[in-house]
Amino acid sequence: MPKIVFQHPEFEEIEIYAPAGSHKKTILELAKEYKVPIAFDCGDGECGSCVIHVTDLEGGPTHMGVHMTDKEKSVLREIGKLSKDELEKVVVNDMPSDWRLACQMIVRDEDIRITYETM
Ligand code: FES
Repeated sequence: MPKIVFQHPEFEEIEIYAPAGSHKKTILELAKEYKVPIAFDCGDGECGSCVIHVTDLEGGPTHMGVHMTDKEKSVLREIGKLSKDELEKVVVNDMPSDWRLACQMIVRDEDIRITYETM
């Protein structure tokens, strides 16, 4: 069960263990379930309002390769969270990006820390 720590500068951290079978859930779905007030608007990877910063628990890069859809990459580029160089790393080397969309990121078997904005 991966541990997920939700962090916001003004609130106490919220720590959850993603339950078994949650590997089909997005971070936004889990956040709603545990009442973590991550900002979101469309819920469908279109607007970028649910952008989150994702690291390992110590604040370093995550290690698991992740699948990012073209739509997610494109929105992250549009809102200035993914530079051309970073995009290349994601596409060519299958490196995870520190920035993700909570409504698109699926929980993996890795402990992570998520920094989020509120609604
Ligand atoms: S809520 Fe719009 S992109 Fe996630």
